[in-house]
Amino acid sequence: MKTINVELEHNAYPVYLGHGLLSDSSLWRKHLATGKTLIVSNDVVAPLYLDVLRGALNGIDQEIHIIPDGEPMKTVETWYGIVDSLIAMQARRDANIIALGGGVVGDISGFAAASYMRGIRFLQAPTTLLAQVDASVGGKTGINHKQGKNLVGAFHQPAAVVVDTATLATLSAREFNAGLAEVVKYGAIRDPRFFSWMEDNAAKISDREEASLNYLIYRSIMNKAEIVAEDEKEAGVRALLNFGHSFGHALEAETGYSEFLHGEAVAIGMVTASRLSEARGLCEPGTTGRISELLTRFGLPVSMPAQTEMSGLLSALQLDKKAVATGLRLVLLEAIGQSIVDSNSKQNDVVNAIEQSLGSKQAST
Ligand code: NAD
Ligand code: GLY
Repeated sequence: MKTINVELEHNAYPVYLGHGLLSDSSLWRKHLATGKTLIVSNDVVAPLYLDVLRGALNGIDQEIHIIPDGEPMKTVETWYGIVDSLIAMQARRDANIIALGGGVVGDISGFAAASYMRGIRFLQAPTTLLAQVDASVGGKTGINHKQGKNLVGAFHQPAAVVVDTATLATLSAREFNAGLAEVVKYGAIRDPRFFSWMEDNAAKISDREEASLNYLIYRSIMNKAEIVAEDEKEAGVRALLNFGHSFGHALEAETGYSEFLHGEAVAIGMVTASRLSEARGLCEPGTTGRISELLTRFGLPVSMPAQTEMSGLLSALQLDKKAVATGLRLVLLEAIGQSIVDSNSKQNDVVNAIEQSLGSKQAST
């Protein structure tokens, strides 16, 4: 087992990484508050792993709340249902919530933990690659609104994150690859050696070879933990984690949140943002090619459907909650492993970069 500490001034916490950790009873007992525990999971993950977790919590006063699977469930109604369960079990301020699942379960359970009685203890047991390398670490919790994703939420750090890599055995290739997009992001924005390592080990990573996968997750969590420790509430450097996300969110919105998984849209978004960086002379030619090639080797899309409406994308970009009044704020690259937040792109530059990302007009990278 490896432990990565998220070194926050207040609320520092460990992320445990290892095979089979869900069943590590002592780990859970070490971090649970004395009150009752609500395990929140969904109807895909619960049949696979709930019994393992419950076994580890044997003797602890616990209740279960299962939500239906899927991003459309990340709503105020689902949040309300979790709060109902907390009230029904007479949970007090010494209660715990454990989120067992991917980022959807983690975000919504975390928001319930943040808001119930103004905050109860929250523990994460992430079961997708994306949740293990990104969503479970850093304390962003929330739900969607029909006007946009994650519009309502709170920062609420977990007391501990238990990453059991054994759970990845049941994850589909598509979901696994979507998680890899966020991993490539760490290399692209701040860790050039990690990026090169991924280039050298892409086949082993895709095959989920144990040592490679462990290193990949470990290095990703390290990157995330360092950023969060430096900037817990996204006042500065944490915004770099949004590399590819402005274009990605616009594409997700424009395609009705049904065509692409989040990681897939982020992959296309990163290629688009890199193209823009190259076109603006911020990074050297060939940068986009390296990113695009690695993502392709990871089975990820790198271009938008040719029929995607430019006007829709542009209006979604302006609606992006990261946009500021002075102009579109985008994370751009100065090199692989070096990124900046920049507001100096002209609309034309943005349009050109998107056009090149449209399938039919894909430029050589
Ligand atoms: P998800 O939670 O929808 O999980 C993806 C799919 O995999 C679901 O069908 C799920 O039931 C299934 N699944 C989960 N674990 C499994 C397993 N071990 N075996 C088989 N199937 C399994 O999606 P996700 O990609 O994990 O997370 C996406 C969500 O995370 C989005 O809502 C996004 O906004 C959020 N997110 C949050 C943060 C953050 O910092 N809080 C960061 C990134 C993403
Ligand atoms: N996933 C982006 C962040 O945690 O800030």
